[in-house]
Amino acid sequence: MNDSEKVTSQSYHFERYVWLLTTVWTIIITASLIWNVIQAQQNILKVARIQAQTAFEKDVIYRRWNAEHGGVYAPVTEKVQPNPYLINIPERDITTPLGKSLTLINPAYMTRQVHELAKREYGVLGHITSLNPIRPENAPDPWEITALQAFERGQIEISSIERMDDEEYMRLMRPLITEEGCLKCHAAQGYQEGDIRGGISVSIPMAPLWAVARAQVTSLAIGHVLLWAVGLGGIVLGTRQLRWSERERNQTEAKREALIAELENKNTELERFTYTVSHDLKSPLITISGFLGMLEQDTIAGDSRRIKDDIKYIRDGTKKMKRRLDDLLELSRIGRLVNPPQEVPLSKLAHEVADLVAGQIARQRVRVNISPNLPVVYGDPSQLREVLQNLVDNAVKYMGDQPEPRLEIGVRQDGAETVFYVQDNGIGIDPRYRDKVFGLFETLDRQTGNTGVGLAIVKQIIEVHGGRIWVESEGVGQGSAFCFTLPDNRET
Ligand code: HEC
Repeated sequence: MNDSEKVTSQSYHFERYVWLLTTVWTIIITASLIWNVIQAQQNILKVARIQAQTAFEKDVIYRRWNAEHGGVYAPVTEKVQPNPYLINIPERDITTPLGKSLTLINPAYMTRQVHELAKREYGVLGHITSLNPIRPENAPDPWEITALQAFERGQIEISSIERMDDEEYMRLMRPLITEEGCLKCHAAQGYQEGDIRGGISVSIPMAPLWAVARAQVTSLAIGHVLLWAVGLGGIVLGTRQLRWSERERNQTEAKREALIAELENKNTELERFTYTVSHDLKSPLITISGFLGMLEQDTIAGDSRRIKDDIKYIRDGTKKMKRRLDDLLELSRIGRLVNPPQEVPLSKLAHEVADLVAGQIARQRVRVNISPNLPVVYGDPSQLREVLQNLVDNAVKYMGDQPEPRLEIGVRQDGAETVFYVQDNGIGIDPRYRDKVFGLFETLDRQTGNTGVGLAIVKQIIEVHGGRIWVESEGVGQGSAFCFTLPDNRET
């Protein structure tokens, strides 16, 4: 998986994550809203039932008070007329000493009158009834019949939401139990204490309660929508945070991988370096020890003819070895930029370098062309001078028997990159060796005695400056161009 694939699959992974969380959150909020609405409805029903129970209990208490007195007397008015069903009760109608007419009000009669008042004042309906009514108008409606039948089977309360005259009511009914006080008037019907004598049904209008419920549902809905939005914001922020930290982790990972790769590179380079160094230092040593052996033999044999030559070879060997050690020292010295980067006018530097080899250039009749466009770069001036010098030396050295030798120091633009080059039309480089030329002690021409450390130094300097170097050559006899870049490293 490459980096961009990783990123795509990751954002896909995050997108799925966000969708999943959002869905779960939405489901939770919806479920909570539904549950809360149901609860609100249930609570309203509970409230309605409690209201109905209270109304019923009030009725029962007043009735009991009335029954305990065997009915109470009230003045006869247009509305309160003597109850025809009490005709058999003695003293149903009495007159006060001052001539005021009073009539006996039995509990059911009183309840009916109170119910009428309640209906007018509060819209609460009440009805006293029995499966077997004394007064035909007290007969139960169908709902009350089922309730009364349920009481006969032992139920103690019936309630439900019912529609009456296009209005919704909480209807509740409880039985009326025959007590001692009831028997004064109801014993004749055969009732005994504890019998169910009928019941009172109360009906609470639901409209005002539903209005309360609606207000509650509205505020619940608003609250849930707000909570949902807050949660959603949290999800979005959280995932963004997560994505950031994930991206950061990936970047650190990538950086680490790059560092490891670089380290591995350096390691193999070092291995190669160590191998080359030991190999190349060994060869002069072998020469030296070889001639030392011969010197020893000649000395023992007393043969002095070759001694002078032997010593010369030994000295050459030590010289060669010293030179290589010097080169190595120099190479290690370039390990880092010692001086802070400063302005280096490349054009001036090129002319100075060309002047240094002016003698050889003149001898070989090399036409030198230094581009006037060479810019000012930033770096270590003495190191950059070494680069140009090595490249120019190299070009002059490998002109071969070119009849019209040419050398050009120039600059060109490769896209966004500025590329400097030292080009010749000399012997060129076999493409097979193109990468090897920058190696340590890799000489293209061992005959010249060049230790070949020059191009390795050039490469080191360019890389320490943050640039790249490579060689362009069509092949042997085609000339070659050493190209390099120098990034603007003023900051470093
Ligand atoms: C003072 C006499 C009196 C007493 C005491 C009395 N009642 Fe009644 N009751 C009546 C009369 C008369 C009616 C029928 C006419 C009416 O509705 O006024 C009636 C009606 C009822 C009804 C309505 C159904 C129907 O038969 O018309 C119920 C139920 C009832 N009584 C239960 C009781 C209970 C329970 C008690 C005892 C707590 C009780 N009554 C005490 C006189 C009495």
